[in-house]
Amino acid sequence: MSFPKRSYNCGILREENAGNEVVFNGWIGTVRDMGGLIFIDIRDRFGITQLVIEPENQPELAERSKELKSEFVIWAKGTVRKRENPNLKIPTGLIEVLVSDFGILNRAELPPFEIIDDLNTSEELRLKYRFLDLRRPVLQKNFILRNQIYQITHQYFYEKGFLEIETPVLMKSTPEGARDFLVPSRTYNGRFYALPQSPQQYKQILMVSGFDRYMQIVKCFRDEDLRSDRQPEFTQIDLEMSFVEREDVMEVIEGYFSKVWKEIKGIDIPTPFMKMTYNDAMLNYGSDKPDLRFDMKISTLTEILNGTEFKVFADTIANNGVIAAINAKGCGSYSRKKIDELTEFAKKYGAKGLAWMKSTNGEFSSSFAKFLKEEEIENIKKAVNFEDGDLVLVVADSWHRSYTVLGALRLEVAKQSGIMDKIKNDYSFHWVIDFPLLDYDEEESRYIAMHHPFTSPMNEDSELLNSNPAKARAKAYDVVVNGAELGGGSIRIHDQAIQSRMFELLGFTKEDAQSKFGFLLDALKYGAPPHGGLALGLDRIVMTLAGTDNIRDVIAFPKTTTGLSLMDGAPSGVDEKQLKELGISLIKGE
Ligand code: AMO
Ligand code: AMP
Repeated sequence: MSFPKRSYNCGILREENAGNEVVFNGWIGTVRDMGGLIFIDIRDRFGITQLVIEPENQPELAERSKELKSEFVIWAKGTVRKRENPNLKIPTGLIEVLVSDFGILNRAELPPFEIIDDLNTSEELRLKYRFLDLRRPVLQKNFILRNQIYQITHQYFYEKGFLEIETPVLMKSTPEGARDFLVPSRTYNGRFYALPQSPQQYKQILMVSGFDRYMQIVKCFRDEDLRSDRQPEFTQIDLEMSFVEREDVMEVIEGYFSKVWKEIKGIDIPTPFMKMTYNDAMLNYGSDKPDLRFDMKISTLTEILNGTEFKVFADTIANNGVIAAINAKGCGSYSRKKIDELTEFAKKYGAKGLAWMKSTNGEFSSSFAKFLKEEEIENIKKAVNFEDGDLVLVVADSWHRSYTVLGALRLEVAKQSGIMDKIKNDYSFHWVIDFPLLDYDEEESRYIAMHHPFTSPMNEDSELLNSNPAKARAKAYDVVVNGAELGGGSIRIHDQAIQSRMFELLGFTKEDAQSKFGFLLDALKYGAPPHGGLALGLDRIVMTLAGTDNIRDVIAFPKTTTGLSLMDGAPSGVDEKQLKELGISLIKGE
């Protein structure tokens, strides 16, 4: 089919183009027949331009245009002219194109939803018709941004001397944190490949091989519970460096973020980023990825309530727990109903209850003041800097739970009270450092690695690996932006004996460790340089820059939170023949 090819895209014409003869190719947005004039919006990924037909002067065109409907693909020729009624909302809004001819390149059925930015329809329907959803300019913007980030990333790391090297997608199953996605082997029935949760072991081996600086924009796969910022397959900017310490990796990452924010937002972000220990992050903000754009720090009240007769608090102290609070400034006027809702919110995070006190227009009330001595109340007020107009929320529980519940409440109150709206265009970058090396898994009654099993303990804590492993800290670091963990990494263990000891701590027998991680343990025997690195969550970087909290807005073909791809129907059943070749029979087959 031959057809007139576009001379301009639909987003480029301005006032100075008046008089130009142009050709467009694109999709029809809307057709509005106003009697005296027919307006047709033509759209492509660059923008929208208004086409006009004058029925009185162009009866043949007007007649043919009756067939045109939304989402038809057309070509149109015409002359640019200034608009009588400019539309200042779109960049081409000062002009329109008087059509001299047009043709239909393809027809479209009536779409299940309009192709507009402010769409009020279920995400489910959008995902089923993702090809139409992706036509919407709001979404297209995100992929144009994502592409910009790919280019900047490749350029930055190339200039810093990193080599991009591809690592396998079919690898050995070495569960590291989340569950693996498995791929059955046809040639070796009963054996499985795993999809990589990250290229961690390969990139370390590349350091042993002497590549010095590696990077890759790489897909990772994790079969874990999904959330608004988690997908089963996602993209990392993965890197590894030899002969480095923590600060060297940090400097590279700070330079990277500076470049991205400068080129995309025109913003100079201050470097080096602030460093906060994991312990301080938890104590002050109740999170290992605190949002530092606003204050509302947590106050620990355990000490000043020591000896209290209020049973809830006394029991907590007796059980080595923590009593802590946040002061929601200006929320003293919250109703009982609103506080009850906050209590329910806290319970979702595992709190047993939520104690509160508030004051509005000089009127004080509290759920627990009557159980405390006057002096104890005064001490709490002092500790949280209580003033008229404030609402103080108190949680008494185990160390971890008290702080994480208050951390979640801090964010929720910030959302409800309008703080989040005020800070939405701010960016705060910082490092969280000195993570614990290990985490105790109650269910499995064993330690698991807090970052991953290849992370080095801090030099000064290496003795603790024998005496008190739970207390050992790791050479791990996360980069946090506006309360989101955009990346995490560590200095690795390059000493084979320490790596073996680590596997032992994690409950692997020697044989187990050898069969699961033997290739890495072997590589460490042959001159592994000191090395370390980090991986950034590319999808999360795009989310932050695009200002969305839904990861599906920045992934072209995402899965639902239950792991379904609604457009193509994956995961799907397979033929009996395929299963047979793989040596697989289903227990409860369909
Ligand atoms: P980690 O597991 O911390 O580290 O992952 C690094 C970053 O990847 C992003 N991320 C995700 N993004 C979307 N969906 C997910 N399911 C998901 N899981 C992780 C986060 C996270 O900070 N191999 C180590 C890195 C290293 O030590 O070098 C690793 O994978 O932004
Ligand atoms: P009660 O004695 O159960 O009526 O509790 C008195 C107040 O303490 C109520 O406001 C409860 O919500 C609150 N409370 C109960 N358990 C906790 C807890 N673990 N942390 C904070 N407040 C609690």
